[in-house]
Amino acid sequence: MSQFVHKPVLVAEVLQALRPRAGGRYVDGTIGNGGHALSILEASSPDGFLWGCDRDARAVEVARERLAKFAGRFELKQCNFSELGVWLGRESCDGVLLDLGVSSPQLDQAERGFSFQQDGPLDMRMDQNQRLTAAELVNGESAERLAELFWQFGGESQSRRLANAIARERQAHEIETTRQLAELIERLIPRHGKRAHPATRVFQALRIAVNEEISSLKIGLEEAVKILKPSGRLAVITFHSLEDRVVKNFGRARAQDYTFTGGVDVPELRRPRAPELKWCSRKAVKPNDDEVKENPRSRSAQLRVMEKL
Ligand SMILES: C[S@@+](CC[C@H](N)C(=O)[O-])C[C@H]1O[C@@H](n2cnc3c(N)ncnc32)[C@H](O)[C@@H]1O
Repeated sequence: MSQFVHKPVLVAEVLQALRPRAGGRYVDGTIGNGGHALSILEASSPDGFLWGCDRDARAVEVARERLAKFAGRFELKQCNFSELGVWLGRESCDGVLLDLGVSSPQLDQAERGFSFQQDGPLDMRMDQNQRLTAAELVNGESAERLAELFWQFGGESQSRRLANAIARERQAHEIETTRQLAELIERLIPRHGKRAHPATRVFQALRIAVNEEISSLKIGLEEAVKILKPSGRLAVITFHSLEDRVVKNFGRARAQDYTFTGGVDVPELRRPRAPELKWCSRKAVKPNDDEVKENPRSRSAQLRVMEKL
């Protein structure tokens, strides 16, 4: 179990957002190591209930062990949070948490292939039953498609150059490991003492593409709102601007008291309607300096909280 340690971020802020109480019904759509879930179950004692899921079967196993002392008060399942509405009833929950991205154990285990810090197979699948791996994308997609992915999901400004270099390299031999890919990128974009590794953006882009993270998030947000009761809250922690933009746009659209058609918002053509959500705070909540010092991984975390009306 020690190998599987993930320090949850913004725990106090998540509790403040979800306001767990005895008898409440909560969902953790990204159970990970169960850190947030543990706090929610503790705060909703003696009889609050939690449904938890994760795409990663190993994470579900670890969370189940970790939450054992709350037996009878939780149910866990391996699934994508985009399926929450299939699993749980409409308006059945008081709070939903989505803590996006990957966990420290996923990053730290070389064989999962998420990290350029250690050598492992180019895998990056959260759900290991899935067929598509990062190696398949890197060796099978056209240079144009790779460049598009690196730009769209990683914001990599040298996306074409890197994609072309990958296409040349793989003619000689397949790129099968994280180290091979990281070294290829480092040869093209030398580090020059910069803090971030030059492969950071490409690795992020591949992970997002392999796990279809953006489309899962868009569907997951819809599903979360369906299963929330009126006055229930949705808390979402993101780790990069692409995810945050999806959450912000979703909340903004659902908090509007009008709709419009045709893709252009012309005030005279707006049609009034009741908003579905309201923001609980105007700005995203970020970890304080002490948390960032203690857990550097939290530095890019942002929490947004919405309430169903
Ligand atoms: C940052 S970790 C969550 C950590 C957790 N809050 C804790 O306290 O231990 C993110 C987890 O979400 C999972 N995940 C990411 N996208 C998912 C999705 N669409 N559906 C279900 N799980 C997902 C990952 O496999 C990973 O275990």
